[in-house]
Amino acid sequence: MIRILGLIGSPRKGKNTDQLVQAVLTGAEDAGAKVTKIYLNDLKIKPCQACQKHPYPKYCIYNDGMNKLYKLFEQVDGIVLGTPAYYETISSQAKLMIDRCNCLSLIKRDRQGKPKFIRRINKPKLGVFVWVSDCSRDIKPALASIRFWCQDINLNMVKTIKMFHSDRKDNNKQELIKQAYQSGIALVKKIRTDQNTN
Ligand SMILES: Cc1cc2nc3c(=O)[nH]c(=O)nc-3n(C[C@H](O)[C@H](O)[C@H](O)COP(=O)(O)O)c2cc1C
Repeated sequence: MIRILGLIGSPRKGKNTDQLVQAVLTGAEDAGAKVTKIYLNDLKIKPCQACQKHPYPKYCIYNDGMNKLYKLFEQVDGIVLGTPAYYETISSQAKLMIDRCNCLSLIKRDRQGKPKFIRRINKPKLGVFVWVSDCSRDIKPALASIRFWCQDINLNMVKTIKMFHSDRKDNNKQELIKQAYQSGIALVKKIRTDQNTN
């Protein structure tokens, strides 16, 4: 059974980010996947302390809301991350979670000092990124802030859904919700195809 995890980076339940991530998850579920939805704001997640301890076999010195996510990152086949644009990038809820994934990848340097990243969670995952903004247009800063996280947890974002004018009534939300639903179906189909060919 294909498993998809939805992570909501907005503190506002039932609002734009939640609705779009939910639509992707509904599409995934209709395509036969088992879905789990988590509001990052509900988890107690401490900020990364840059302790450099790299505990083993644990992933972090802390025992908090991240434990549940580390376990899921080992198990799921796909991730839908949704976040509002806060100061042109991502929400603090999303960033807090991302920083706590730093120890999922260890840096080893060769004799020339060239870094090599060794992942601790190797299960390959495909994903959808949902970005919701009101007046901001440039998604690049948000994509930059999730790029290394995707590498660290072996996640390949195959689709991005952008919503603009989120706080206005005359936006194209219904159209985007349909697109998001179709993206959920497509995500599961792609995971299935990849798993059958590997
Ligand atoms: C702290 C904060 C910072 C924000 N910064 C931006 C921004 O830089 N650009 C923008 O377009 N909207 C910004 N917004 C507006 C939100 O992105 C917008 O309200 C969005 O709909 C929130 O997502 P939600 O409806 O899923 O909660 C900001 C909102 C907050 C609370």
